[in-house]
Amino acid sequence: MGNWEKLKERNKLITEEILKRDEFVIVNHHDADGLCAGAIMAKALERKGKTFENITVKQLYSETIQEIKDKGKNYVFVDFGSGQMDLLEEKIKENFFVIDHHQTVKSDYEFHANPFLFGFDGGKEVSGSGMAYLVAKEIDEKNLDLSALAVVGAVGDMQEYNGKLEGLNAGIVEDGEKVKVLKKENDLRLYGKISRPLTQFISFSTNPVFPGLVADDKASAEFLMEKGIELKTKEKWRTYSDLTQEEKKNLTSSLIIHLIEKGCSEYIAGKIIGETFTLLKENPKSPLRDAKEFATLLNSCGRHGMPKVGLGVCMGDREEIYQKAMELLLEHRKQLREGITWVQQQGLQEEKEFYFFDAGENIKEEIVGIIAGMLYGSLLVGQNKPIIAFAKQSEELIKVSARATDNLIRQGLNLGKILKEICFELGKNAEGGGHKIAAGCRINSEQQKEFMKKLNEKIAIQLNK
Ligand code: C5P
Ligand code: C5P
Ligand code: ZN
Repeated sequence: MGNWEKLKERNKLITEEILKRDEFVIVNHHDADGLCAGAIMAKALERKGKTFENITVKQLYSETIQEIKDKGKNYVFVDFGSGQMDLLEEKIKENFFVIDHHQTVKSDYEFHANPFLFGFDGGKEVSGSGMAYLVAKEIDEKNLDLSALAVVGAVGDMQEYNGKLEGLNAGIVEDGEKVKVLKKENDLRLYGKISRPLTQFISFSTNPVFPGLVADDKASAEFLMEKGIELKTKEKWRTYSDLTQEEKKNLTSSLIIHLIEKGCSEYIAGKIIGETFTLLKENPKSPLRDAKEFATLLNSCGRHGMPKVGLGVCMGDREEIYQKAMELLLEHRKQLREGITWVQQQGLQEEKEFYFFDAGENIKEEIVGIIAGMLYGSLLVGQNKPIIAFAKQSEELIKVSARATDNLIRQGLNLGKILKEICFELGKNAEGGGHKIAAGCRINSEQQKEFMKKLNEKIAIQLNK
């Protein structure tokens, strides 16, 4: 059980210190949660008249810390930093704050807010943007509206265990409902409820895929018509959000039955229903209206070297920057589709304790982890082993992304811990870490075999084999 009083005390201490200082550099991670965390901090500082700039980086590698260490006066690291406390203390002394949710070693540094230090689980109870939000709320109660971004971050980090946001996240959702920026509903959790015509809503779905309907618009259209759901009103294609309540229920139960009939477990099939989050201040026709689609839009910016576009959207731009983000979204989804197809064609390889694929230069290292995670929803692989993805980072380095399932975590798997240990043992440029269920690292190219050997051993130990 987490100690809320102690966490709040820590956030208060950080707040008091932040309010005394000025000229901030907010350093945030490049994914949806990182961008939301960076924007929440930026808004909170802006509202207090502080000056700041955001720097977005792929990862806080040691050379990254070296590169940014003279860029400003006071640093706020959000959505990473807890795994690099020693280095930060060495390089930046006491001129920094870390607000993170990754697994951390015990740390005595005062200006470090991390749920694990206070008995909360940063893997599922609160995200990086959730932690930034809790500090923002201490900075000023008026910041309750920023809870919407914190929920986008949590959904981006896939923190909905059993289809629900729990623990500290649930409190953040309540804040959002209180100030009417958010609405929580139990509904279908598929991508594209607002943005995709019904046939593509089903045929394009990757999490999960619907066997027999996947990538087949004709079969999907027939499936819908059989259930009595009209595809068009006048000349306009209907989306899920256009359906009546009755039609929504009918489609949801039909999809669950379809999955079970095709051999999918009831657990996986049931996971297509759960909590969904609507951002009430957004245009009903915009992907920003739905937390999951908002998060994907942010990944489309940050993970493709355009973090300023994502941050601009989080800060409120709905004109030019938003239009740019919409373009990036199309490209991102195209690359994900191509990536999945590439893996399907090549086939996944299997080791004793994990599945893997080596994308080389065929998939960008920034999105190879998303593709690894999507494979579980593709029914290409069982849920019984983690998935490891390799991609080329540079001439000398390989990026590794690792993903697991809830079930493996319950059996004791902790990917972040394993990758951190292996990197320590490999030495050289190997660095990494993360969560139990999703982690990453980089290694030297010639270390790949050794890496796989160690991985097999360590997974077996954690799973008591
Ligand atoms: O650095 P950060 O904590 O924000 O990133 C976590 C990453 O792990 C996200 O990209 C998220 O999508 C991914 N994840 C996943 N599967 C899960 C949980 C998280 O792919 N079940
Ligand atoms: O990059 P990827 O999406 O696979 O990252 C999964 C998780 O592992 C994220 O939470 C990320 O912050 C973490 N990670 C890390 N060190 C790395 C790469 C990823 O801590 N070198
Ligand atoms: Zn995060």
